[in-house]
Amino acid sequence: MNCESEVTYVVAPGGTLKGTIRVPGDKSISHRSIMLGALADGVTAIDGFLEGEDSLATLRAFQEMGVHIERRAPGRVIVHGVGLDGLQAPNGPIYLGNSGTSMRLLSGILAAQPFNTILEGDASLMQRPMRRVTRPLEQMGGRIITTEAGTPPLEIRGGRTLRGIHYKMPVASAQVKSALLLAGLYAQGETCVTEPAPTRDHTERMLEAFSWPVERKGRRICVRGGGRLRATRIQVPGDISSAAFFMVGAALVPDGDIVLEQLGVNPTRTGVINILRRMGVDIQLLNERRAGGEPVADIRVRGGELRGIRIPEEEVPLAIDEFPAIFIAAACARGTTVLTGAEELRVKESDRIQVMADGLNALGIGAQATADGMVIEGGGLQGGEVDSHGDHRIAMAFTMAALRAKGEIRILDCANVATSFPGFVEMACRAGMSLRVEG
Ligand code: S3P
Repeated sequence: MNCESEVTYVVAPGGTLKGTIRVPGDKSISHRSIMLGALADGVTAIDGFLEGEDSLATLRAFQEMGVHIERRAPGRVIVHGVGLDGLQAPNGPIYLGNSGTSMRLLSGILAAQPFNTILEGDASLMQRPMRRVTRPLEQMGGRIITTEAGTPPLEIRGGRTLRGIHYKMPVASAQVKSALLLAGLYAQGETCVTEPAPTRDHTERMLEAFSWPVERKGRRICVRGGGRLRATRIQVPGDISSAAFFMVGAALVPDGDIVLEQLGVNPTRTGVINILRRMGVDIQLLNERRAGGEPVADIRVRGGELRGIRIPEEEVPLAIDEFPAIFIAAACARGTTVLTGAEELRVKESDRIQVMADGLNALGIGAQATADGMVIEGGGLQGGEVDSHGDHRIAMAFTMAALRAKGEIRILDCANVATSFPGFVEMACRAGMSLRVEG
């Protein structure tokens, strides 16, 4: 165990969430802005970049491959693109910390390079399934070696010629889709990916912003190899996945009233809004606009009564990162909430079905983990101790639970909140919660 994993949040019961806040930049868009900026011809200026450990892992990876990247001010990053063929071999293995997005998307890019690379990460990332990307990349002609279990480290062999394939994805995964589209930039011919259900489309939108044509027909997305990416300016909106904790928190308290400014509201990410609305939450979208090819809005959420629901399966990929927060809303709702079709939650930064069910049970809530979801009986939250298992989103979800708990909640292993939401504790305190960090 390293000392970082000893961070504990101690959250006092009660409090409220009020005011106007701006959450940090979108993690998915931040990763992609560095990747495409690095591979483009010319200089890309990024504003609103997420200075979290995950997106910084991507930034450092490209610095290690010879890309000059300047951090000029908080959220302002300048990437001096080296072109599609300008990356250099890193000096050693590339360490990606907790970041699955960095590892899966980078595999697509690195499978097409002339040099070998090794990708590794922290204890959580080293347990995550990688065959979902390595198999189709091998079908394209790449060579990537995993452990027997299909987990990292990834040994990516260079000097291979990639050919475009038509790939029908067995799981709805934006990371798999993105890895293949990025490999497709280098491949001979056309690379097409068909998704079983819509997933976040930031890669497609950003490729277009970098002047690379993307063909989208229903669930099929295609790119052709052999072009150039042209540098551009990227404005990263606030991350709706980070905002989700404050949306749920404000919904839980009768006087909750929060405005989240400048949030990305890409329809492939707004499942949390649709689900919370079905549960009875009052959510308004204000000032809807576009920034850098992505829809943006301010969102106002007010507290009130919540009701348990059966969550429609088609919302699952559109809210995939928000279930820890949604489970807390369900725990405070009147009646039963049922989630199915969400087995992917078992292979996130932790097994989010088991870890959330255990934490809810520890706080006196009847929550039953199932193979692909959870059944939660809304009730009275007690105080107690929960283990986040180093999962940032679980730590933040249980923080919000304290707004409705009868006693203090202690949350173990919270250091990884810094992977996606630097400044979370300060923001929660400013908005009306009482939260102490130990360790
Ligand atoms: C992401 C895709 C999702 C999501 C992850 C970020 C991305 O993963 O859970 O946090 O940026 O493409 P999957 O593609 O595995 O569903």
